[in-house]
Amino acid sequence: MYTLYLLVIACIAYLASTIFRAIATKVPGPWYTNLTSFVLKYYEFQGKRRVWIHSLHERYGPVVRLAPNEVAFANLEGMKEIYQSGGSGYDKTEFYNLFKQYGRRPMFALLNKNEHSQRRKLFAERYAMTNILNSTIIQGIQQNAAKVVQKCAASAGSYLDTYTVLHCYALDCASHALFNPSGTKSLDEKEDYVLMEDLSYDDRLQSRLVQHHWPVLASIRSCFTPKPMMSLSHTFVLNRVSNTKTEESALLHKLRSKANNIEEIQMAAECMDHLAAGIDTTGDALCFLMHELSLPRSLSVQKRLHQEIIDNPNAKLDDLPYMDAVIKEGLRLFPPIPMSLPRYVPKEGRDISGYSLPGNSIVSCQAYSMHLMDTSVFPNASEFLPERWLEKEGEAERNRLFFAFAAGGRGCIGKNLALVEMKTLLRDIYGRFTTNIAPQMSSDMSIDDQIIASRPKDQKCLLTFQEVSV
Ligand code: HEM
Repeated sequence: MYTLYLLVIACIAYLASTIFRAIATKVPGPWYTNLTSFVLKYYEFQGKRRVWIHSLHERYGPVVRLAPNEVAFANLEGMKEIYQSGGSGYDKTEFYNLFKQYGRRPMFALLNKNEHSQRRKLFAERYAMTNILNSTIIQGIQQNAAKVVQKCAASAGSYLDTYTVLHCYALDCASHALFNPSGTKSLDEKEDYVLMEDLSYDDRLQSRLVQHHWPVLASIRSCFTPKPMMSLSHTFVLNRVSNTKTEESALLHKLRSKANNIEEIQMAAECMDHLAAGIDTTGDALCFLMHELSLPRSLSVQKRLHQEIIDNPNAKLDDLPYMDAVIKEGLRLFPPIPMSLPRYVPKEGRDISGYSLPGNSIVSCQAYSMHLMDTSVFPNASEFLPERWLEKEGEAERNRLFFAFAAGGRGCIGKNLALVEMKTLLRDIYGRFTTNIAPQMSSDMSIDDQIIASRPKDQKCLLTFQEVSV
């Protein structure tokens, strides 16, 4: 009985000190977020965390409390401190345990930043722009883009489901960079097409949240349910890592180098991680963007894009400023990872954007709000206006707030690969076709949140392709 009293007193003391610490920081937000994380969890399970946080920012400003130990930021000061201070910002939280592969931590799931920076050095040169443009990687991307263009041309008089085609494109490009010459051929072959479905139609939001918030409950539950079979994509990657020869430009080739001395299962974890990170992101970014371009309101954007492409047939990919602006605006309005990227405040505590937060508080920014909140930097923020990126005035401010690839030493390592994939394909498509929404298209294209990334709600996007007459 005595132990029970002590336990109750300890719990009350813990709760009181958490609430007191929350109130003492004076971070704005609804009163109940000082007392409980229940409401935050409720919205997470509903798949509405991002939208809820954004509504709080609109009401309370760029710094807002989400729970007694969790605060969200949507301003430059907060973003720089959390993700860029000391190079790669604060350590990741246990949320990233969800991204372990084969029970191992790939780079993305490493929590400690020192361990992470060692691992990142291993990959940096592979994802450098010079490596992508001067190796067989660009050839693979161009060949895959040509296959997509063939499909667009073949769909004349009908429509194409660009959601699936663009995800196959992203899969074939990313797997080429990893396993060249043994990447997938999902644009042509049924056997590989199912890998795209396996990677892109994952629906385990709720069970992954249970695993994150209540790991003990999740492991008890797993004792009573049959062990899940290894997914197709995990089997595919294991197979590639143990059985295939790779060209020098492939990421796996680098991992296999004796000097790196990496276990085979760890190599598989890294490759699986990069594959998962590179498919829905690039596929969804292209899908949202092409949908937006195909709406009647974007016809003038398509025309200007087409003109730039045909006026500069020999331009390098980076010498097409309007295409650059179109892509950036697409990623601003539809960031494929629009949700919070949680980090721990270092144990001594920190002052962030005028608020003094205790050590181990969870802090984050979400790209969605970073791109919409500051209307002095992004006027008419909810409109698709690529021209804004061409204006000299305010250029530095816009670029600093652009958070689609995150920022700092833990930002997206695949950014160059993703941009080359996107630019190559858009140049090939919009140099030749006009796209429109197909009359048969009734699917919902609103942003549907998953665990960290999002996707078009119905995962279907029917577009028509008309050759532009010369
Ligand atoms: C438009 C496409 C893409 C977007 C918007 C994007 C976005 C991001 C973001 C926001 C992060 C940081 C996430 C966090 O801190 O939790 C990230 C990390 C990462 N991305 Fe991407 N990504 C894209 C494409 C790719 C591609 C094509 C690859 C590789 C094939 C890739 C590989 C990675 C990896 C490995 C990390 C972890 C980096 C680290 O921990 O240092 N991404 N990405």
